[in-house]
Amino acid sequence: MSLRPILLHPDPRLRTAARPVGAIDDSLRRLADDMLETMYDAPGIGLAAPQVGQLVRLIVMDCVKAEDEAPRPMVLVNPEITWTSDETGVYEEGCLSIPEHYAEVTRPAEVAVRWTALDGSAQEERFAGLWATCVQHEIDHLDGRLFIDHISAVRRGMITRKMEKLKRDRARGIERA
Ligand code: NI
Repeated sequence: MSLRPILLHPDPRLRTAARPVGAIDDSLRRLADDMLETMYDAPGIGLAAPQVGQLVRLIVMDCVKAEDEAPRPMVLVNPEITWTSDETGVYEEGCLSIPEHYAEVTRPAEVAVRWTALDGSAQEERFAGLWATCVQHEIDHLDGRLFIDHISAVRRGMITRKMEKLKRDRARGIERA
């Protein structure tokens, strides 16, 4: 397993719809392993393949936060939301591609998601709470959407300008204190 560099917003690859996964092969399994390692290392609770420059419909997540609870690494191939609750929930969201920026986002409080597991089996599960927010955030990535698309254009522009500056600084090798 190895860590993969995470793309930073703005990047055209984060704005491109990802293609469905065809065959589940060794390279896809390696990508999923690398994405989990990269997510835990960041640390984060979710990561979508486009964030590491792979434009395929694959996400990983683990929203277990309590230290006395076993981790639950999940790999979702071709995930699809099949149902959303009318009830909404608000979470302060962040993104590994938009570090250090957070905003409250309103989404359906519960969703049902269908996907293929790495062993090829069909899965379906209902998610609530942080898991529901996370899976919607990650599936958004597969359609070229970011959490800042759910907030005001003014705030989005502000965050994007700050990210452009961060990327320029990093390109020049300037580390922020
Ligand atoms: Ni994200």
